Amino acid sequence: MHSEPTMHDERSGAIRAGELGTLTPSIPGLPWPKPWMRAGAVRVEQALARLLPTADGAETDLIAAMRYATLQGGKRTRALLCLAAGALSDAPAAALDDVGAAIEMVHACTLVHDDLPAMDDDVLRRGLPTVHVQFGEATAILVGDALQAHAFLTLAQLDAPSDTRIRLVRELAQAISTEGAAGGQALDLALVGKRVAPERIIAMHKMKSGALVRAAVRMGALCALPENSAHDALYRALDRFSSGFGLALQVVDDILDVTEDTATLGKTSGKDADAQKPTSVSIMGLQASRQLALDLYRDAEQAIVPLGPRAQQLEQMLQRAATCLR
Ligand code: IPE
Ligand code: IPE
Ligand code: MG
Ligand code: MG
Ligand code: MG
Repeated sequence: MHSEPTMHDERSGAIRAGELGTLTPSIPGLPWPKPWMRAGAVRVEQALARLLPTADGAETDLIAAMRYATLQGGKRTRALLCLAAGALSDAPAAALDDVGAAIEMVHACTLVHDDLPAMDDDVLRRGLPTVHVQFGEATAILVGDALQAHAFLTLAQLDAPSDTRIRLVRELAQAISTEGAAGGQALDLALVGKRVAPERIIAMHKMKSGALVRAAVRMGALCALPENSAHDALYRALDRFSSGFGLALQVVDDILDVTEDTATLGKTSGKDADAQKPTSVSIMGLQASRQLALDLYRDAEQAIVPLGPRAQQLEQMLQRAATCLR
């Protein structure tokens, strides 16, 4: 078994063959249209490659499966939002890369567990077999556990003052606990096959996907600025921005499940209807879902106007997200 800690181990900074080469977004319309996005995605992948443990012992493939779950594609939306919010508040770049990587570890955990047979039972993710298909169900459960733990270890060991680290840990924990991703995923399962009011779907989407997006933005800002009365207006603007962005992300995901094919998505299309999932599309229809996403993007855009040119990268993230609806 692997026993030595490998955090910040120089040897582990090397990216294995085939890892960065997979920096391919699953949706062709959603690449990294701005140079800072591509550079940021590369830096976050390098941070992931460095921060994650590197070698299994002879008896398990847990670490190989963790790296498979995190380093094989993905649009890196949450990490880039963290970098964009961090740039806005002049946070140190190196810390932001590690915070972005921690967020991507947690996000990957939610995807690995979301794909399990007991949840969505999906066989394809980011264009590859899902972790439980590739490595077995028990390993996939443990990959989620270990990635989540490793994300918090990354934040605990961040090169930042201890009060900053505690704020970051609290923010991420809140986003994935009962009021965030875990609670939202529980609702998602509880509502299968049921006809529910649009407000319920919106509340569920805010929890299962919106909360982590909101945390990603807040964590970028928290790297440099505590949330206190001096920065009240900034946090209010960021929260309004990220609430719209995060809800729209899941609404658009529901739309794409209906409108795109499996090859484009890198995951099985039409899966939500097959599984009788309550989605924005199944409850509101395609047209209303599209309009909702556009309205949310517009509101998010309005939210950051008072921040001026400093918010340019957040604005560019909105433009990138909106290309999916063209
Ligand atoms: C997929 O998120 C899961 C949702 C919350 C909709 P992404 O579409 O951001 O997935 P990756 O990281 O790019 O694969
Ligand atoms: C998953 O939503 C949200 C998570 C918290 C992982 P979906 O089940 O719609 O995500 P995909 O479509 O499998 O990526
Ligand atoms: Mg799901
Ligand atoms: Mg799913
Ligand atoms: Mg989906």
